[in-house]
Amino acid sequence: MSFEQQLQDTELFKQAAFINGSWVNSDEDIAVTNPATGEKIGTVPKLSQATVIGSIEMAEQAMEKWKSLTAKQRSKALMKWFNLIEQHCDDLAYIMTCEQGKPLAEALGEIHYAASFIEWFAEEGKRIYGDVIPQTVASNRLMTIKQPIGVCGAITPWNFPAAMITRKAAPALAAGCSIVVKPATETPFTALALAELSLRAGIPAGIFNVVTGDSRTIGHQLTTHPSIAKFSFTGSTPVGRTLLEQCASTVKKTSMELGGNAPFIVFEDADLDDAVDGAMLAKFRNGGQTCVCVNRIYVHESVHNKFADKLIKRVNALRVGHGLESNTDIGPMITTKAVDDINSLVKDALAKGASLANSQHSLPEGERYIAPLVLTNVTDEMNIVHEEIFGPVATLIKFSDEEEVLIKANDTIFGLASYVYTNDINRIYRVCEKLEYGMVGVNTGLISNEVAPFGGVKQSGLGKEGSKYGIEDYLETKYICINTK
Ligand code: SIN
Repeated sequence: MSFEQQLQDTELFKQAAFINGSWVNSDEDIAVTNPATGEKIGTVPKLSQATVIGSIEMAEQAMEKWKSLTAKQRSKALMKWFNLIEQHCDDLAYIMTCEQGKPLAEALGEIHYAASFIEWFAEEGKRIYGDVIPQTVASNRLMTIKQPIGVCGAITPWNFPAAMITRKAAPALAAGCSIVVKPATETPFTALALAELSLRAGIPAGIFNVVTGDSRTIGHQLTTHPSIAKFSFTGSTPVGRTLLEQCASTVKKTSMELGGNAPFIVFEDADLDDAVDGAMLAKFRNGGQTCVCVNRIYVHESVHNKFADKLIKRVNALRVGHGLESNTDIGPMITTKAVDDINSLVKDALAKGASLANSQHSLPEGERYIAPLVLTNVTDEMNIVHEEIFGPVATLIKFSDEEEVLIKANDTIFGLASYVYTNDINRIYRVCEKLEYGMVGVNTGLISNEVAPFGGVKQSGLGKEGSKYGIEDYLETKYICINTK
């Protein structure tokens, strides 16, 4: 049976871009492959520059009517979209696993996570408040109102093909903006299925658009076109820096959710079983391919060996395989380049004295599979401590006191997520305040949800997504001063 025939609703598989409510093709196509098998799933159009510009202009026109609706009217359309995504969650998860590789259960989890942003912002859109400000001159009346910022552009990554789109599109739409989204070249079909459901939900033409094609061409338009008021990106720090530079030419408001180098600190008083559970989740979610995945596990010297033994046992039990097989814990990596990059970090660490601590895994056939590893005796000289691994490799580093481990944890240009395991309440406050990260998980390895602000500090990014703060980035605050005399 073909990929498409496996779907309950075959209309969700679209091989065209979605612009102004219509499916758009082009003369040239880009093939999309299944990372588990290397087989072609289908193609998407390589849109011309003129078509991309047209999509921005149509989004601008469409926004005029959308922004004049009440928040409640927009909320109703968003809630229809949310319900349709939930109704079609199995098909959406199947599409995601086939193009991204993650295990089906994780893909299903991501679809619910993605839908939760739409539900959340459908509600938040109704709570966009301005202020009345006490005047400084008796006759004046001062106030602020919040207005949609304008047409938004977004570039989203392959590791979360649905959730990173809805985390940007839902607040944009709830605020009264329109958006043009460029999904990752590797994973456009999930995005296009979301577009089909937006159409069925009655979201007006031109409000939610998905463009496909060459990343540089589209990226250039989304970051330089004068009609784009706000640009949002999730991806690596080097690419984020370039896009930020491009946005400077027309002074766009930006949100950047960039790379991480998350420390995971296990203090001597931690519950070690809980800490191992947390490390498994924070390290191996999505095969280690998330920005909030643990990069460095610091374990107090007095509990290091015990923790390592427990972790190794769990890692040895992980099953690597095709995401559609029910017992798979880790699917393929997204590309062979990703495999090479991970292997080169491991090679460097082993050459500089790290030890491979777990047993060999049997791997299915295929170039993109990689065995989960635990490395011990990891030191600061190794590249793996400083670069984002983005793969299933756990690195263990011993430490002896709190001050030392905090200095090491903060010694990075990144500042996205961090994790701490301890049962000392005073230490929790101390450490949370000293960690230079946008997010701290205490005695948990899973911090992401729609209600809390997701985002980094330092070179991990700008702005917050999700939560009550996530909609602010799609609004302008206007100050009004009325002389009443
Ligand atoms: C990411 O890796 O970019 C997002 C991870 C998350 O939302 O938990």
